[in-house]
Amino acid sequence: MKTRAWIGPMLVALSLSLCSAAPAVAADECLKCHESLGGSIPALFRRDVHFAARISCSGCHGGDSSTDDMAKAMDTSAGFVGGSKGDAASMMCARCHSDAERMRSYGSKLPVQQWESLQASVHGKLSGSGGGNAVSCVTCHGAHGIVRVDNPSSPVSPLNVVKKCSSCHANAAYMRMFNPSLAVDQLEKYRTSVHGVRNAKGDVKAAQCVSCHGSHGILKAADAKSRVNPVNLPATCATCHSDASYMKEYGIPTDQYDKFSRSVHGVALLQKHDAGAPACNRCHGNHGAAPPGVASISNVCGTCHVLNAELFAGSPHKKAFDEQGLPECETCHGNHEIVTAGTWMLGVSDQSTCGNCHSADANASGFNVARMMRSLADSLLDMEAAAGKLVDEAEQKGMEITEAKFGLRDVRQARLQSRTVVHAFDESKFRAVVEKGITQAASVSHEASEAIDEFYFRRIGLGVSTFIITILAVCLWLLIRRIEARAK
Ligand code: HEC
Ligand code: HEC
Ligand code: HEC
Ligand code: HEC
Ligand code: HEC
Ligand code: HEC
Ligand code: HEC
Ligand code: HEC
Ligand code: HEC
Ligand code: HEC
Ligand code: HEC
Repeated sequence: MKTRAWIGPMLVALSLSLCSAAPAVAADECLKCHESLGGSIPALFRRDVHFAARISCSGCHGGDSSTDDMAKAMDTSAGFVGGSKGDAASMMCARCHSDAERMRSYGSKLPVQQWESLQASVHGKLSGSGGGNAVSCVTCHGAHGIVRVDNPSSPVSPLNVVKKCSSCHANAAYMRMFNPSLAVDQLEKYRTSVHGVRNAKGDVKAAQCVSCHGSHGILKAADAKSRVNPVNLPATCATCHSDASYMKEYGIPTDQYDKFSRSVHGVALLQKHDAGAPACNRCHGNHGAAPPGVASISNVCGTCHVLNAELFAGSPHKKAFDEQGLPECETCHGNHEIVTAGTWMLGVSDQSTCGNCHSADANASGFNVARMMRSLADSLLDMEAAAGKLVDEAEQKGMEITEAKFGLRDVRQARLQSRTVVHAFDESKFRAVVEKGITQAASVSHEASEAIDEFYFRRIGLGVSTFIITILAVCLWLLIRRIEARAK
C-alpha cells in the first residue's frame, strides 16, 4: 500500500518531464529574477495560459532562461527581444501560433492561422502601414496574463469583447486618424438592440461584435468574403438563428433563414447576387438588430418600394391598420417568406389576403371593392394573354405588326402599374389604370387579328393566282405540243 501511494505521483511527474518539450517553469531564471524585481508582469504571468503550458518569458522574448546572469539572459545574440509593438509584437506570438508543429509539441490542437488571418484583415492592412496605432495580437489578448478566450476574464470573451472593439471604434478622435468617414456609433446602437441588451445583462449567447464580424480575419463589409457582406450575412445570422437547440431557451422561431432563402428577396440576393435585394440587416439594422417596430416596418420596405409605401400611406388602410396596430406591408406580404405578388392576393376567396378581413358581414364595402378589383385584374390578364397570342401568331405568319407589339408593351406597363396602384385601395384609381390596359389590349388584339386575316386573304389570293398560272402553263404546253405535232 505504501509504495503504491508514491508511485502514482512519481509516474505522473516522470511522464510530464519526458513528454514535455518545453523547459520546466522551475528553471525559468527570467521569471525568478523579475519576480525579485517586483512589478506587475511576473504576477500577471503566473496566471497566464503560457505559464500553465510551461512556457518561459523567453518563449516570447527569446534570450536564455536558464541563466541568472542578467546580461547573458537578455543578450540579443541569444535572440532576446524586448517589449515590442505592432507587427513586431504579433510576430512574437506567430513564432508559435503560426507553427503547427511547435504548437503540437506543447500538446495543443489550437488552430494556427491567426497571424495570417490578421494580416489579410482590415486591421492587418493598417498595421502593414507601420502606424504605431496598429492592431496586434496584444491589442486584443494582452501580453502578460493572457487567458483562454473562453475564460470570462478574457478581454475577448463575449461579454468583454464589445468593450475591447469599442475602445477604438467608439473613439471618434482615434478613428478619425484612419478613416474620418467611418461611423463610430456601433456600440451606441448595439446597446439598443435585443443582442446588446442581452449582452449587457450577461447573456453570452446573444450576438456581439465578433459573432457577426469574426475575430482575426475581419474584413470591410464591401469585401465579397466578409461575413457581413450582404450575400454572406444571412448565413452569418443563421449560425445562431437557424440552430434550434442553440435558440431553444428563447422560444422564438428558427425558420427565418429557410424562409428568407425561399423568398423573392432571398432568391434575388443569394442566387442572383442582386445587391438591390435586402439581406437581414436591411430590415433589422446592422447594430440595432431588433425586430423593426410596427411603426417602422413600412419605412423599411418603403426605402426600396417607394411608390407602394406612398400609395399605402394615402389609402383607407393606413388609418384602419394603425388603429389595430397592424404592420403595414407585412400584414399582406409576410416578412421572411415574401413571394412574388399575384392576382391571387386580391378578391374574397380563401386564398386572397383581402378575404382575411373583408366579408359580406365585416368591412363590407372593402369586400365589394376587393371582388371588383379581382375581376378587373383577371380581365386585364386574360386580355393581355389573348392579345399576346394573336401578336405571336401574326408574327409567325411573317406579318409586319411592329405597332401592335409596341401596344402590347403598353398593356404590360398598365398591368404592372395596376399591381402598384392596388396599394391605394381605391376602386376608381385602380379601374382607371386597368381599363386603360384593357382598351389597349383590345386594340392590339384587333390589329393582330387584322394582320392574320390579311395573311389568309393573301394566301387565298396566292392560291387562286397559282392555280390560274398553272392552268395557263399547261394550256401553253399543250399548245406548243400541238404546234410541234402539226409541224411534223
Ligand atoms: C506571450 C508572450 C510573452 C511572454 C510569455 C512574456 N512577455 Fe513580456 N512582453 C510581451 C510583449 C508582446 C510585450 C510588448 C507589448 C506590451 O508591452 O504590452 C512585452 C513587454 C515586456 C516588458 C516591457 C514592458 C514595457 O513597458 O516596456 C517586460 C519588462 C516584459 N515583457 C517582461 C516579461 C517577463 C519578465 C516575462 C516572464 C515573466 C514576460 N515578459 C513574458 C510578450 C510576452
Ligand atoms: C538577473 C536578473 C534578470 C534576469 C535573469 C532577466 N532579467 Fe530581464 N530585466 C532585468 C532588469 C533589472 C531589467 C530592467 C533593466 C532595463 O531596463 O534594462 C530587465 C528588463 C527586461 C525587459 C524589458 C527591457 C526591454 O528591452 O524591453 C524584458 C522584456 C526582460 N527583461 C525580459 C527578460 C527575459 C525574457 C529574461 C530571460 C531570458 C530575463 N529578462 C532575464 C533583470 C533580469
Ligand atoms: C481584433 C481582436 C483580436 C486580435 C487582433 C487577435 N485576436 Fe486572437 N482572438 C480574438 C477573439 C475574439 C477570439 C475568440 C475566438 C474567435 O471568435 O475567433 C480569439 C481567439 C484566439 C485564439 C484561440 C484559438 C482560436 O483561433 O480561436 C488564439 C490562439 C488567438 N486568438 C491568438 C491570436 C494571435 C496569435 C493573434 C495575433 C496574430 C491574435 N489572436 C489577434 C480576438 C483577436
Ligand atoms: C512559445 C510558444 C508561444 C508563444 C510565443 C505564444 N504562445 Fe500563445 N499559446 C501557446 C500555447 C502552447 C498555448 C496553450 C495551448 C493549449 O493549452 O491548447 C497558447 C495559448 C494561447 C491563448 C489561449 C487560447 C485558448 O485556448 O483560448 C492565447 C489567446 C494566446 N496563446 C495568445 C498568444 C499571444 C497574444 C501571444 C503573443 C503575445 C502568444 N500567444 C505567444 C504558445 C505560445
Ligand atoms: C486598436 C484599435 C481597434 C480595435 C481594438 C479594433 N478595431 Fe476595428 N478597426 C480599427 C481601425 C483603425 C480600422 C480601419 C478603419 C479604416 O481604415 O477604414 C478598423 C476597421 C474595422 C472594420 C472595417 C470597417 C469598414 O471600413 O467597413 C470592422 C468591421 C472592424 N474594424 C471591426 C472590429 C471589431 C469587431 C473589433 C473587435 C473584435 C475591432 N474592430 C477592434 C481599429 C480597431
Ligand atoms: C448582428 C450582427 C452585428 C453585430 C453584433 C455587430 N455588427 Fe458591426 N456590422 C454588421 C453589419 C451587417 C454591418 C454593415 C454591413 C454593410 O455595410 O453592409 C456592420 C458594420 C460595421 C462597421 C463598419 C461601419 C458601419 O457602422 O457600417 C464597423 C466598424 C462595425 N460594424 C463594428 C462593430 C462593432 C465594434 C461591434 C460591437 C459593438 C459590431 N460591429 C457588432 C453586423 C454586426
Ligand atoms: C451568436 C448568435 C447570434 C447571431 C450571430 C445573431 N443573433 Fe440575433 N439573437 C441571438 C439571440 C440569443 C437572441 C435573443 C433572442 C430573444 O431574446 O428572443 C437574438 C435576438 C435577435 C432578434 C430579436 C428577436 C426577438 O424578437 O426577440 C433579432 C431581430 C435578431 N436577433 C436578428 C439577428 C440578425 C439580423 C442577425 C445577423 C445580422 C443576428 N440576429 C445574428 C443570437 C444571435
Ligand atoms: C424584408 C424585411 C426582413 C428581412 C429581409 C428579414 N427580416 Fe426578420 N423580421 C422582419 C419583420 C417585419 C419581423 C417581424 C417583427 C414583428 O413581428 O414585430 C421580423 C422578425 C424577425 C425575428 C424575430 C422572430 C420572428 O421570426 O418573428 C428574427 C429573429 C428575425 N426576424 C431574424 C431575421 C434573419 C436572421 C433574417 C435574415 C436571414 C431576417 N430576419 C430577414 C423583417 C425582415
Ligand atoms: C433593400 C431593398 C428592399 C427592401 C428593404 C425590401 N424589398 Fe421587396 N424587393 C426588393 C427587390 C430588389 C425585389 C425584386 C426581386 C426580384 O424579383 O428579383 C423585391 C421584391 C418584392 C416583392 C415581389 C414583387 C413582385 O413583382 O411580385 C414584394 C411583394 C416585396 N418585395 C415586398 C417587400 C416588403 C413587404 C418589404 C418590407 C417588409 C420589402 N419588400 C423590403 C427590394 C427590397
Ligand atoms: C392589403 C394588402 C396589401 C398590403 C397592406 C400591401 N400590399 Fe403590396 N400587394 C398587394 C396586392 C394585392 C398586390 C398585387 C397583386 C397583383 O395584382 O399582382 C401587391 C403587390 C405588391 C408588389 C409588387 C408590385 C409592384 O408594385 O412592384 C410590391 C413590391 C408590394 N406589393 C409591396 C408592398 C409594400 C412595400 C407594402 C407596404 C407599404 C405593401 N405592399 C402593402 C397587397 C398588399
Ligand atoms: C388586416 C385586415 C385587412 C385586410 C387584409 C384588408 N383590409 Fe381592406 N380594410 C380593412 C379595414 C379595417 C378597413 C376599414 C373599415 C372599412 O372601411 O370597411 C378597410 C377598408 C378598405 C377599403 C375602403 C372601404 C371604404 O369604405 O372606402 C377598401 C377599398 C379595402 N379595404 C380594400 C381591400 C382590399 C382590396 C384588400 C386586399 C388586397 C384588403 N382591403 C385587405 C381591413 C383589411
